[in-house]
Order: sequence, then C-alpha cells, then structure tokens
Amino acid sequence: VELDKGEFEPPCPRCGRPLTSALVGEDAMLDPRNAYATSKLAQEHLAASWATATSGRAIALRYHNVYGPRMPRDTPYAGVAAIFRSSLERGVAPRVFEDGAQRRDFIHVRDIAAANLAALTALADQRSASLRCYNVASGTPHTIGEMATALSAAYGAVIPIITGEYRLGDVRHVVADPAAAKRDLGFTAVVDFERGMQEFAEASLR
Ligand code: UD1
Repeated sequence: VELDKGEFEPPCPRCGRPLTSALVGEDAMLDPRNAYATSKLAQEHLAASWATATSGRAIALRYHNVYGPRMPRDTPYAGVAAIFRSSLERGVAPRVFEDGAQRRDFIHVRDIAAANLAALTALADQRSASLRCYNVASGTPHTIGEMATALSAAYGAVIPIITGEYRLGDVRHVVADPAAAKRDLGFTAVVDFERGMQEFAEASLR
C-alpha cells in the first residue's frame, strides 16, 4: 500500500519514525530477503563447513554493485548498471524505479579484481582454518538516480526517467562498511565514481 502511494522509505518497525541509514558491517544480523541472497549465504555456509572439515582456509567476498567495461548487453539477469548502459546503447532512457533515492554502493570491476588479489594474498598468511567474510564496497554509496544521471550525462543525449515503479522484495538501501577489508586485506577501492562512470559509458558492452 505504501509503495503504491510512492512512500518508499521504510519506517522504523517499532516506533514508525523515519530511519537513518548507516554503513553495514560483516557481523550485522544476516537476513537474506530472496532466493538469490539466500543462495549466496548458503555458499558461505558451505565454505565454512569445508574449512572445518578439511582444516582449510577460505575468504568470502561480498561484492556490492559491480560496474565497468564489458558488462553484458541486454540481459534481464544483469544488475542495474548493465541494464542502464544497455538502454543508452539502444537510445532509450534508463528507467529508474521508486523515486530514485534508493542507495547502493557501486564498485568498479578493477577494484573487484584488486580485492580478489588482496584476498588471495591474505589467505596465504591466514593461520587458522576458518572462513572469513568481507564486504567489497567503495564505502561511498550513491542513489540509483545519481548513477543514472552520471552515466547518462557521460554517454550523452538521453535523460533518465524516474518511473515510480518498484520490485517487490527490493531492499531500499544497501550500503556496506569497507573497513574490515581495509584492515585485514589491505584493500581499498580507488576508482572514482564520476570517472568510473565516464569510462563505463565509453567502453563497449559484451
Ligand atoms: C542484487 C541482485 C539481487 C539480489 C540482491 C541481494 C542482481 C541483478 N540483483 O540486487 O538479485 O537479491 O543483490 O543479494 O544481481 N533498478 C532500476 N531500474 C532497473 C533495474 C533496477 O531503477 O531497470 C533499481 C532497483 O529497483 C534497485 C537498484 O536499481 O533499487 C539496484 O538493483 P539491482 O541492480 O538489481 O541490484 P540489487 O537490488 O542490489
């Protein structure tokens, strides 16, 4: 009912007052909201079982919203960055759901590669048999509206449309604390949002 009225910001379930969002650490309560999120959490549990059973060492990287060159063209299974980039390629305006103020952490594919390298290097030094989990995020969230605007401006010609549509089960804001990956893996995202979007607009799709 609230969503149909255009009220997208979820209130506090206890007192009904507005919430302020904060960067979420790895030890926050786990609450997968859909089958895809549940399957990812199951992979972490499997890796933890494997580590226990074999005295193995494992690191799970929780990638946030990845973007960058060679994203797939026109697939409904892709994330919003590839969907918007594909729209621009077709000369069609990106369609921003809700009011465009929902936040995500966009992270460039080169930073993702660097995080993988950092994790592999850290694994070599990890003493105890265990699974450790890390956010891979820039720590600087942007709204979907901001992302659509930055990408469209970089591409040129088309202006995004805010549709007010919504997908049931979407989480309003997904924002992560990158501090643990910095502390333990020495990983920090370095690609600047505006510059990364410029490159993404100019690079070809796959
Ligand atoms: C991602 C996953 C999702 C998973 C979730 C939690 C993908 C494509 N999505 O969701 O399956 O459950 O992490 O693990 O892998 N949006 C638009 N216009 C569009 C498409 C999307 O405005 O055409 C908005 C969505 O409403 C959402 C935001 O963009 O607010 C991000 O959507 P999406 O890229 O699907 O990623 P997540 O929601 O982060």
